[in-house]
Amino acid sequence: MKTQVAIIGGGPAGLLLSEILHRNGIESVVLERRSRAYVLGRIRAGVLEEGSVKVLCDNGLGDRLLRDGHVHDGAQLVWAGRDSFFIDCYKEAGKRFTTYGQTQVQEDLFAAADRRNATVLDEATDVMPMDVTTDRPYVTFKHRGENLRLDCDFVAGCDGKHGVSRSIIPADQQKFYEKVFPFGWLGVLSETPPIEHLTYANHPRGFALASMRNPMLSRYYIQVPLDNRIEDWSDDRFWTELKARYPKEIADAIVTGPSIEKSIAPLRSFVTEPMRYGRLFLAGDAAHIVPPTGAKGLNLAVSDVFYLSRALASHFNHGSDAMLDSYSEMALRRVWSSVRFSWWLTNLMHRFPDMSEFDQRAQEAELNFLATSHHAHASVAEQYAGLPFEGAHI
Ligand code: APR
Ligand code: PHB
Repeated sequence: MKTQVAIIGGGPAGLLLSEILHRNGIESVVLERRSRAYVLGRIRAGVLEEGSVKVLCDNGLGDRLLRDGHVHDGAQLVWAGRDSFFIDCYKEAGKRFTTYGQTQVQEDLFAAADRRNATVLDEATDVMPMDVTTDRPYVTFKHRGENLRLDCDFVAGCDGKHGVSRSIIPADQQKFYEKVFPFGWLGVLSETPPIEHLTYANHPRGFALASMRNPMLSRYYIQVPLDNRIEDWSDDRFWTELKARYPKEIADAIVTGPSIEKSIAPLRSFVTEPMRYGRLFLAGDAAHIVPPTGAKGLNLAVSDVFYLSRALASHFNHGSDAMLDSYSEMALRRVWSSVRFSWWLTNLMHRFPDMSEFDQRAQEAELNFLATSHHAHASVAEQYAGLPFEGAHI
């Protein structure tokens, strides 16, 4: 087999890259390890920055997103049962964000791929990028019992945090930065009407978040110790704990019901640098992970793919490699700004097991500053809304 860009991983990063490349007249083949049903069954985050919405809409992926997505001016913060305050992204940064599930983004991407008869091979196993430091890279893999080889000009590693692409970069040619947080998030999806705003809570019992997918689908999270298991959390226990972390008027507004999904995820940040090795380019979770606080993961996958597709289009359509050469540096500038913001918001909103009384007081002082200072407020609003893309009106 032969193509221009071999894309490893058919998550949002891989499928969006394939879509944008197609729109620029560039061929690709997507190799995905899992079945389509598995990929579509994953429940992930659900907040799209205005810039991400624009990239999706500009590439023909906006129909359902614009119809079903819920547009928000900002998000609400509450702490220790005190009055809530609203971070107004629209007022402070001129940008709104949209709640729309990553699962739906993934469905829209598959639908678009099917419409153009894209080559997306699922259940492709033993995928291995080869000779990426030469002019003739290729990828070997197994599909439906056959050993296959895909020759290409470039390989895009969009294979998420457990992917193979990052692992082929020699240790002395990559730098890995990591921060592990000492707690996880227990997430619950329920077919109940959500509360009005996305609401983050810092409470002595731990962090909580109220989010949404659509008018009859709510997503809630609570901070839990890392040793907790799903079996420890009956629905009743979850709802009682969630409500205990919000002030009474918000707790009273939360409509409970049976959970339709429940999972625990650890919180971690990592970044690998550079995001390129020869003709292999990394994008999305393959290169970086952020804790979910601030919902930056999917948005970073979109900005990476935007930069990478623009660089590949410049190579194939204009014969210029300048953008490919600056891809890693440019993508990493945006990655680090979101990594920093997610880390900061995680620190601000969670109770850490080893927190001293000093740490606690300092956290309260920072929340108080945020609640009362216009400058602090504007800074958070600008970062929550999403920083601009370089060299584009996004
Ligand atoms: N070969 C082929 N495919 C692979 C391999 C492999 N060796 N390893 C992983 N994959 C696939 C996974 O099955 C998955 O479908 O790569 C895909 C990576 O998709 P995601 O994990 O969704 O990562 P990405 O596309 O970068 O999207 C980032 O996803 O995890 C969230 O918070 C994250 O919202 C962000 C978004
Ligand atoms: C979600 O809706 O899943 C979500 C929203 C905001 C976050 C994290 C997750 O910060």
